This record gives sequence, structure tokens and C-alpha cells, in this order.
Amino acid sequence: MLSKRYTAMLSEKDIIFEIAGYGRQRAQEIGADNVFDFSLGNPSVPAPPSVNQTMTDILRERSSLEVHGYGPGMGLPEVRDTVAQSLNRRFGMNYERGHIFMTIGAAGAVAHALRAVTEPGDEIVAFAPYFPEYRPYTAGAGLNLRVVPANVDTLQINFEALEEILNPKVAAVLVNSPNNPSGVVLSTPTVRRLAGLLEEKQREYGHPIYLISDEPYREIRFTGVDSPYIAACYPNTITCYSFSKSISLPGERIGYLAVNPAAEQAEKIVEVCPQISRTIGQNGTATLMQLTVAKCIEETSELSIYEHNKDRLYRELIRDGFTCVEPGGTFYMFPRSLEPDDVAFCQQARELELLFVPGSAFGCPGHFRIAYCVPEEKVIRALPRFRQLAKRYGK
Ligand SMILES: Cc1ncc(COP(=O)(O)O)c(C=O)c1O
Repeated sequence: MLSKRYTAMLSEKDIIFEIAGYGRQRAQEIGADNVFDFSLGNPSVPAPPSVNQTMTDILRERSSLEVHGYGPGMGLPEVRDTVAQSLNRRFGMNYERGHIFMTIGAAGAVAHALRAVTEPGDEIVAFAPYFPEYRPYTAGAGLNLRVVPANVDTLQINFEALEEILNPKVAAVLVNSPNNPSGVVLSTPTVRRLAGLLEEKQREYGHPIYLISDEPYREIRFTGVDSPYIAACYPNTITCYSFSKSISLPGERIGYLAVNPAAEQAEKIVEVCPQISRTIGQNGTATLMQLTVAKCIEETSELSIYEHNKDRLYRELIRDGFTCVEPGGTFYMFPRSLEPDDVAFCQQARELELLFVPGSAFGCPGHFRIAYCVPEEKVIRALPRFRQLAKRYGK
């Protein structure tokens, strides 16, 4: 019999893909140039040329059996060493191979982290606005997601609301900085305050509260933004990383999980990960991609394009009368909608061929997400439409 659980998920429409689907349909009707699709977070800059070159070299130099064969469930030892050394060099940490587990993107890393430190029925805390996939990630592990409402003026953490939600059933707190959908980066004072509060609650509850730090946008940080390495501020941190955005490889499905060596049972957390892989049927990651990212570990795509788009769009939006917390990274922006109903607002925008995702999809109504990972010329041509949209609301 077909699974009721997954059939039910079919009816919980994925609004982002629904909007992107509409964008494709509209592009066929009126031409792609006339649709301003800001719905999807797909990198718009290619991978650095060295990535393809590295892959070609690996295929030429290594044996087919080695590159295409099964690898160790944890990931290749030399790749895990390279990841650890790179993090140590860049962030003053002391990771070793035993703290690194190679994953299928950040999604795979979060799925493993959530299972490694919880029991079904535990609570996981996340902060609005949050990545919508946190719902299926947590539900799939039998966990209850508790969402801390946003502090809409700063989009930093709403500590009063967090304190109300924390309780002994909370096994982990999930943070995402730089953030999808807002682009906001948690500042050093915010992260320190969070760390202090979690330390206090761990003592009070008598068990660890892990901080799962989902960081696929770590490399997309804008000039001068205070952006701490979160694991350096709180020992019980599990960092989830992806090469999807930093080197524009979302389709290659490669990332890693790094457990702070100072975390409780750090090595054991990594040791259980391949057992989790067995239960979810996601054993190992592609050898070719592991070898490639290890060779390109500190490279990035031409990420400055995103900051350029952000500067132009943010300046114009503020001039047009929108309110928005200025992003510190990513390729997203999360302005307030010009009417309380963010879905109705996005519908108004649609009439001008501007496609956005309503904030309610991220647990933060009254806002909308602009994914500005599009060519610069598209941003420039969209600006008059933003102005028209603002005028519709008397701005
Ligand atoms: C906040 C956040 N976490 C996790 C992911 C999943 O990343 P990946 O595609 O690398 O698995 C994404 C992807 O967009 C994301 O925005």
C-alpha cells in the first residue's frame, strides 16, 4: 500500500518550486527576458574553472576502480584530513580526521547531525525565518520542531522568545548563518549570548544541548560584516557545510559535517554517522567529488557578483520605500511586504512579472524573499518594476 505519510506530503505544496514552475511556464509564454524570477536559490555564477580541470585530471590520473569504486562510509581519509586542516587554518580550530564526516550536501549533513544527537520525540529549536526543509528533516527523524519567532527589526535572535521555548526536551538548536531567506549574519554578540544561554541550560537540564550550525552560505559574506565561526564560540557545535554555493556545485551533492573536538562525545558522533547512513539508505558520497573538493578546498566561485547585486537592489528598494534588514551574506534579501498579507503581496508582484516567495513559507509572514542570484542585467531591468510595485502601495 502506498505510504500515507509521503502521500500527505504531496499535498503540502512546495511553494518555492510551484513559483519557479510558474516562472518557467511564463517564460515560455512571454519570453524569459520578460520574467523576473527571484524565486530560486540556484547559484548564478559558474564553478571556478579549476573544478572541471581537477575532475579531468583525477579521471586521467587515477584508476577507474579507485575513482568509481565504493569508498569508506565516513569519506576518504585524506579528504577528511584536508577538510580538518583547512578549518583549522582558517578558523583556529583543532579538528582531526575523526571529527569530519563527508555528506550529501548540507542537507545530508543536517539529516545526520539531527539523528546523531537525538532520540525520537526530542525537540529541536529553530529560528524564524527558517529554511522550510527543516520541517521534513526533523519530522523524518521523529523530532518536534519548535520555532522561535523572529525579531523582525534586526533578524538577530529573539532571546526572550527563545528562553520561553527552551525546556529539558530540547536536544539541539539549529542555526543558519548567513541565513536563508534573510541573508542576515548572526553577529559575534548574538552568538556569544546564545552560547552563554545554552551553557546555562545544559547545566540546568543535566544534558548537552547541541548547536547544529547549518552553514552552506559561509563563504558568501559581504565586506566588513562581523561573522564569527560559530563552532569556535560553543563547544557542543556540529557544523554542516556544503560546496553547493561556495563553488556552485549544488547538483554534485557534496558537503561535510564537522564536530567540534571539544563537543561531548565528539568522535562518537562521527562514528555513528555511517550507521545513520545505513538507516536512511544514503551510504557514502561520490569519490570523484570528494577528491575534487579536497583539491579545491579553499577556492570559491566569483562570489563578489552577489554582493554587487545586493548593493544595487538594497539601495533601490530602500529608496522606493521598502523596509529591509540589510543582508550580510548569501544571495537572498527579506524585505517586509507592503501589505500584511505576504501571499497577496507576492500575487501583486506577479502581475508585474516579479516572482518572489512569501515570508510565510519561512515561518515569517509579512515579508518576502528575493533570491538575487540572477545576472546583474536582470536586476537592473527589474528595478523599474520594483518602483511600480511600491507605487501600487502609495510609496
Ligand atoms: C539553509 C540551507 N540549508 C541547507 C541547504 C541544503 O544544501 P545542499 O543543497 O547543499 O544540500 C540549503 C539549500 O539551499 C539551504 O539554503
